Amino acid sequence: MVNVLVIGSGGREHALSWKLSQSSKVETVYTAPGNGGTQNNIQINVNDLDALADFAQKNNCFTVVGPEDPLAAGIVDKFNKLGLKIFGPSKQAAQLESSKIWAKNFMKRNDIPTARFEIFDDAQKAQEYVKTLDYNVVVKADGLAAGKGVIVCNGADEAFSAIQTILVKKTFGDAGNRIIIEERIDGIEASYIALSDGNVAIPMASSQDHKRIFDNDKGPNTGGMGAYSPTPIIDDALSKLIQETIIEKTIHAMKKEGISFTGFLYAGIMIRDGTPYVLEYNVRMGDPECQPITMRMDFDLYDYFVACVEGKLSSMSPASWRSQSAVCVVLASEGYPESYPKNDEITGFDSISNEAIVFHAGTIKSDGKIFSNGGRVLGVTALGDTLSSAITNAYAAAEKITWSHKYNRKDIGQKGLSYL
Ligand code: AMP
Ligand code: GLY
Repeated sequence: MVNVLVIGSGGREHALSWKLSQSSKVETVYTAPGNGGTQNNIQINVNDLDALADFAQKNNCFTVVGPEDPLAAGIVDKFNKLGLKIFGPSKQAAQLESSKIWAKNFMKRNDIPTARFEIFDDAQKAQEYVKTLDYNVVVKADGLAAGKGVIVCNGADEAFSAIQTILVKKTFGDAGNRIIIEERIDGIEASYIALSDGNVAIPMASSQDHKRIFDNDKGPNTGGMGAYSPTPIIDDALSKLIQETIIEKTIHAMKKEGISFTGFLYAGIMIRDGTPYVLEYNVRMGDPECQPITMRMDFDLYDYFVACVEGKLSSMSPASWRSQSAVCVVLASEGYPESYPKNDEITGFDSISNEAIVFHAGTIKSDGKIFSNGGRVLGVTALGDTLSSAITNAYAAAEKITWSHKYNRKDIGQKGLSYL
């Protein structure tokens, strides 16, 4: 029996901990720093790599990294040097997410379908380029900006203002020293996530996120306000196309360039006229996509993580999934993704039976009570025989949870119904 250390504090990490703790091979799952819902929390920051390594060593842990920051900082390289088992990509491989410019150039030289683009550090030249794309552009900061450094523009005013915000005013700091301007692709967006050991890739179940704060995809982008799995947008034929033209091509090209990719490879996809384009790569599970995806897993996730780390994924059978749909409704604090209140007591957990799981994100436990402690607070996730019944089950449970500044979208999953 081994112990597992899950690094992170979001809904994704609660879902991963929940799933891993069901493995017969796992003794204890620790979470660092965790949240009000995770068990065995260890008060170590996700960026304190020395303290994390020390804990993993002393407690005989297999480590699983949730968020991108420690991956970009090289936690996997560090653990490997110390002989500690860890699931996730190396610092070099994490560039697929940590540098959007690196990722775009990688896709270009390897012929992986993505939006046309140019890179700028000069505002004047950037403005000239947006004209050539008829102002239908997306302006992106190069570095990590907590999911906020991307501005989708309609028209010249918005495009010029986005260039000013990122490149001139440096609203995202050094992450905006260089920008990418790319063609805006109008289509249907979905998340495609696979597990890889550097040689082969096994797809996870398909899913779709709801990134905007308000219903009908209005308002600013957030980390994600809800997700469901599977999504009818990705049928078997499209899944095969994405697997071949994007996922396997990426893994093989990385290998050819001398960078083995181990971990979750997440391609944010836009589908236009039946062709999938990569909008972005993430080198980790999605949040909230992870919550409905893990609820549908009909296999031991720990076994697959070990196979990835040992380079033996090809010997594993394809992952099997519950046929039911799963829906995750994110309950947030009013004001998110801008400023929001904290420390509201949250009630209603006891009235939820096993029809749903409440994955915690921005919560903290004190004296046996749960308080809000972040923008995205909870992810209420439920199964159903159809997408429609999973939506009903998730919302029925979500309504039982209350606090004074609770906010959630009312239309999670509806997009999926519209494609059926
Ligand atoms: P990213 O962080 O690069 O995925 O961008 C965040 C969001 O911006 C995506 O989820 C899309 O909704 C949108 N987006 C990014 N790039 C494009 C593009 N080229 N065309 C249309 N929308 C985009
Ligand atoms: N839900 C989008 C992400 O995890 O990046």
